[in-house]
Order: sequence, then C-alpha cells, then structure tokens
Amino acid sequence: MQLTPEQQRLGKDNFHEAVSFTRRSFLVGAAAAVPTLGAAYFQYGSLNGNPVKVGFIGTGDEGSVLLTQHPPAYMDIVACADLREVNRKRALLGDGNEVRWGLNRKLGREAASKIKLYRDHKELLKAHPEIEAVVIAVPLCQHAQVAIDCLKAGKHVLTEKLMAHTVSQCKEMIQVARKENKLLAVGHQRHYNVLYDNANDLIKKGLLGDIKFIRAQWHRNNSFPGSDSWRPGGYSAESFRKKFSADIDGLTAYAKESGFDDLDKFLAEKLGYPSMDKLVNWRLYRDTGGGLMAELGSHQLDAASIFLGKVKPIACYGYGGKNFYGVKGIGSPDQQADDREVEDHVYMTFEFPGPHYGEDKNDVTIVTYSSISTNRMEPYGETVFGSRGTLIMKEELEAMLYKEASKNTGGGGADQRLYILDGNDGLPALSASASTGPTKAAATADVGAVSRGYTEEMEHFCYCIRNNIRETPDKGGLRCPGEQGMKDAIMALTSNLAMKHHKRIVYKDEWFDPDNAAVPETDPEIIS
Ligand SMILES: NC(=O)c1ccc[n+]([C@@H]2O[C@H](COP(=O)([O-])OP(=O)(O)OC[C@H]3O[C@@H](n4cnc5c(N)ncnc54)[C@H](O)[C@@H]3O)[C@@H](O)[C@H]2O)c1
Repeated sequence: MQLTPEQQRLGKDNFHEAVSFTRRSFLVGAAAAVPTLGAAYFQYGSLNGNPVKVGFIGTGDEGSVLLTQHPPAYMDIVACADLREVNRKRALLGDGNEVRWGLNRKLGREAASKIKLYRDHKELLKAHPEIEAVVIAVPLCQHAQVAIDCLKAGKHVLTEKLMAHTVSQCKEMIQVARKENKLLAVGHQRHYNVLYDNANDLIKKGLLGDIKFIRAQWHRNNSFPGSDSWRPGGYSAESFRKKFSADIDGLTAYAKESGFDDLDKFLAEKLGYPSMDKLVNWRLYRDTGGGLMAELGSHQLDAASIFLGKVKPIACYGYGGKNFYGVKGIGSPDQQADDREVEDHVYMTFEFPGPHYGEDKNDVTIVTYSSISTNRMEPYGETVFGSRGTLIMKEELEAMLYKEASKNTGGGGADQRLYILDGNDGLPALSASASTGPTKAAATADVGAVSRGYTEEMEHFCYCIRNNIRETPDKGGLRCPGEQGMKDAIMALTSNLAMKHHKRIVYKDEWFDPDNAAVPETDPEIIS
C-alpha cells in the first residue's frame, strides 16, 4: 500500500492515540517500579541474583545481532562458539554494520576479553559446565541437533527460528526439554515486540471490527549486481576458496586434528553439513535450509496467527518457484541462474477460523503471504483489513491505524486523524476527526524506544530461568516456548509441502500435539 509521508504520520498518530487510550493506566502504573522497557511492559521484573551464565552458539549474521542486543543485567556471556574463523572474530569485533557491534564495543575490551571462543558447541559445552543456558543461532538443519545436545548437557535453550527443519524434530526437542526439565524458547521476536503487543491489544478490543483478511509480504530485489544475494552462476571453486579462505583453512586444520583429510567429509560426518558450500550458503538448499517460508514467512505468519487469537489455521495452498534464479536470459543477466534449490518467489494462502467458525463454516479469515526477489517497492510487513479499520505493521518498527470510511458516520480513510470513543458496549470505537494534521508527537515519538524484541526475548528467557518459571505464556511464562515455535514451524513447513505437491493441505490437530507422533512431512495424504 503506497501512502504519502503525511498519511503515514497520521496513521502512526492514530495508532499512538488508540494505544494511549486503551493502555494508559497499565503503562503508567507499571513503568515506575521496574528497570527496563521490556520488564515494565511485559511485567517481568529485574533479575534477583546473578545474571544467567550463557554460551552463544553461532555468531554469524543473526548471532551477532543477538550479541549486540543482549541484556548484560540479565545475561553474563561466558563463551561463544562458531565453526567459522571469520564469525568468531566478528563476535568480538563486529562487522561495521550498526546492528552488529561486536562484544568489544558492547561490553568494553576488558570484559569482552574474558569471553572464551570455541569452534563448535561441543567444545564449548565441555569447557564450561558452569554455563546455565545457551543461545543458538546456527543454520536451520542443525537447530534440533545442537539444541538437543545442549538440553542433554543440562542447559536451558533459546534457539533461533525456524524451530527445526522438520516437525518431528520440533516434537523431539520439546520431549527432551521436558525430560531434562529445561526451558526451550524459540526466537520469534515479535512475541516480545511492544508494538505488536499493542496492536494485538487493539485488535482484541475490537477496534478493527470484523477481520476477514490479512496480507503479509516481504519483498526484496536481488536483481542488482552487488546486492547481497547476487551470486553469478554460483561460486566457482576458485572464487569460493578465495572468498572463504580463512574459514576453509581454519576448518581444514580442525578436520586434520580430528583425523579427517577431507574437509567436506569432516563437516558431513561430525557437524551435519553436507559440504563447505552448504555450511556457508545453507539457506539456498533444501537439506540445510527451509526456503523463504522458513526464513521470512514464519515470522509474519506467527504475527498473523497472534492477531487472529493464536488459533491454528484450517488449510493452506500456494505456489512457489525458482522464477528468477532458474531463468536464463529473460529480463536478467544469464549468469543469474544458479544451483540453488529453494524457491525465490512464494505466494501462499492460509484459511484461518474466524471467531464463529464453530457455528458457521463461512466465518473464515484469509491470510495471504508473498515473498519475491525481483521488486522491493513495497516495504515488508503485515496489513490487517477490518470492517472498522485498517492496521499496517511496517518493518517491525512502525504501526499505522486508519478508520474505515463510512457514508453514515462520516470520515475515515488515510487522510484523517482518529479519536477513540467509548462505544455503546463499553468497548473503544474509532471515530475520525475533520483535522488532517498529525500531532507533533507523531512526527517525533514513533517507536524509537521500542526494539524489535530481541533484548526483551533474552531478558525474559533469563528471568524465567532465574525464577524457575515454567508457566504458560498467559501466566507469565516464555512468550514463545517450544509449543508455539512448533506451531510456527508447522505453518512454514506445510507451506513448502503445499507448494511442492501442489495441494491444499488441511491441518490436522495431531500435528500440533507434541505427544503425538503424526507429522505432515510423512502424512500419506500429502506426500502420495
Ligand atoms: N529472528 C530473526 O529475525 C532472524 C534473522 C536472521 C536469521 N535468523 C536465524 O538465525 C539462524 C542463523 O542465521 P544466520 O543468518 O546468522 O546464519 P549464518 O550462516 O550467518 O551464521 C550461522 C553460524 O553458525 C555457525 N555454526 C554452525 N554450526 C555450528 C556449531 N555446531 N557450533 C558452533 N557454530 C556453528 C556457522 O559457522 C555460522 O557462522 C538461522 O536459524 C536463521 O533462520 C533469525
């Protein structure tokens, strides 16, 4: 949706107005007593006792973001592990990107110098029995194995999304966590994003009316030479070697030390990566990654399902293809075609039950999702279309709210400020004002103080560990525990099956039950 800057400011102003009307008393009441934004907002407290001793496993792109965002008052990083020399260095030095500072800058050189570095999670676990918990940010194919190794070593686990490569792995992770009596959290950070929580509250209070459609998208353009994903024709052996020489040399030495002359054999047999290329470019292959639905779609389906009351979907269907990287010479340079296996364009449709679906099967809400690689005109986000209003979540950091235009009650649309009125039934309702000017606050306040949720996710993880909290999310427990992470994984992984088998997949309750062995990836109705 293309909105003018003025319309965007109005939309943000409307959102803040609605939030402050509905939540003022809670926020004012809570803010005084507790130390951090997340603790105030989500009502966990400061940590009693020492910060939790943590090991970081995987300090690549995302691990380095988490290191930058980690909360030292809650978390004491004792050690980090990464297979790749370059990423071990990055943990300390950062990489010049403003979201990846490195620990030297984050903690100061002296404190950072005490953090030990290891090559893999097993070395780290062996050297540091005192570590209480781990944060895992390794490629998808190894989430389950690394998490299970850590749980069995007695560590609480916060693992990045997607929870695992298969649903049966998700179930195993939950089982092991239960057996070991350890916490298992999954890094879908929108559960800890204040903006999303506020948006969800507005929806729950009925401000948007009847929601029949949510549209989510993450569109990128990889067609420009020099863009991150531009990998002409795949890497030649020579250019690959040149680009990753430090990592290859380090791992070759590690392989030799472990009795292997062949690096790929060592990686496959000891570490679960079929080759060096697949360790580095894991996102592009099916046996190491989960495609766009796992990497991007899972976050946004997670958000959509929260907005719809955390209900399970009814069914999904869609199309996905290698429509850009698989095409030679049409609208893009020949050499763009490469050997990746995952789709570069996906378009999915999900049917979710509306609040009265039990009584009336017409009460269905549709969620569509697209992720494409050849156009980024539209910013990523989710738009919730309700019968009384529209909510736009933009790039995890902005929220805009508009009233539906109405002939009878007047006003509305993208150019009008809103007032929130008490509706007849005591719930808030939207009303539009004739004024078109945003308030000063809208232009400046925004959500600058609100993080995407990474810090809050790690704070709460540590808080639950220190206070031995094992409750469900509604009672103050982890907001994205294994059971929720598995739900998100099911949506992403069934999308891949729907696209592969060209089928409409109807979700089965038993897939969502960690104690039931039934999983979609082996369901004969899907794969036959
Ligand atoms: N929550 C989010 O918004 C978000 C964003 C990006 C990525 N992620 C997730 O984070 C995870 C990592 O993604 P990335 O982009 O950082 O990948 P990456 O390839 O940049 O980094 C992964 C790192 O893990 C290391 N590694 C692999 N196995 C290891 C082991 N056994 N022990 C120690 N180190 C090991 C690799 O050497 C590599 O450096 C993925 O699951 C991804 O989906 C989440």
